[in-house]
Amino acid sequence: MNHHVMAKRAGTEPAASESGFAEAVIEGLSADTKTLPCRFFYDAIGSELFEQITQVPEYYPTRTEAALLERSATGISARTRAGTVLIEFGSGSSRKTEILLAQMPQLAAYVPIDVSGDALREAQARLAQRFPALDVLPVVGDFGADLHLPRHLAHAPRLGFFPGSTIGNLVPAHAQELLAQMGRQLDGGRLIVGVDLRKDLAVLVPAYNDAAGVTAAFNLNLLTRINRELGGDFDLRAFRHDAVWNGDEGRIEMHLVSRKRQDVHLLGHVFAFTEGERIHTENSYKYSLEGFRRVAEGAGWRVTSVWTDERQWFSLQELSRG
Ligand code: TRP
Repeated sequence: MNHHVMAKRAGTEPAASESGFAEAVIEGLSADTKTLPCRFFYDAIGSELFEQITQVPEYYPTRTEAALLERSATGISARTRAGTVLIEFGSGSSRKTEILLAQMPQLAAYVPIDVSGDALREAQARLAQRFPALDVLPVVGDFGADLHLPRHLAHAPRLGFFPGSTIGNLVPAHAQELLAQMGRQLDGGRLIVGVDLRKDLAVLVPAYNDAAGVTAAFNLNLLTRINRELGGDFDLRAFRHDAVWNGDEGRIEMHLVSRKRQDVHLLGHVFAFTEGERIHTENSYKYSLEGFRRVAEGAGWRVTSVWTDERQWFSLQELSRG
């Protein structure tokens, strides 16, 4: 079956102009403390680089979360009614999801939501091979997008899946709003969310600054994208990637650091950089179990199951309404 869940099918990337890319970049670079919005990391190249990050030895979250999914999938499945729709927010390659899907023959459909049409197309082709009976209904867009499921699924029970500790990329107030919004999208259904935890900085910091330089390439790709799509003249060799722990906020911060004094031009604007000046591109909050429970409860959820590895590096959490 080939339902169109939204107007935009997999394959039509939202154009930069539609997505507010130019406005967001100009606003971010005009601020006293320069920032660039992280939601633009994931063009086709960025999504591919992120897949590579998940495989570098220093990046523990993907591996640890996959092991937790292996342990929890039958339990999650046992609590999932026949005819449920699995909705994944920011599905990327959907590789981890296969662990769940393998235990859930009772699903009516799988709805992966992602900003990368390329990633969605690849995942759909792969899933069609492994799970020929599964109805896959990709949605290209932000995971906040309104979900218009095909009519026969509109009233099916919903199970949300939000892995990868993407929730940690939002400041806690926004994380709480997003969880509340997902609660509305899921319409009474449960949400399985991956949440990265506080740990030794000797483990944490290298996960965001791997020796092979993949994370650096991922961060710098934002500048490449600005050059290509907005006609900027960022000199890629004149910026370097940095990842720092901000203990007051409890987060890893990703920055791009100007190696020298320089001017950057784009869309008729000139942005001056001093030597060592930083562009803040991303946060990755690390929670305690109590800290995340407060955020979830503030969004109207109850934490009904928590799976963690023995080192307590990462958690998979089941949230239920009310
Ligand atoms: N959700 C991932 C995380 O916080 C995203 C991520 C991993 C990321 N490495 C990154 C984002 C490097 C920006 C830069 O772990």
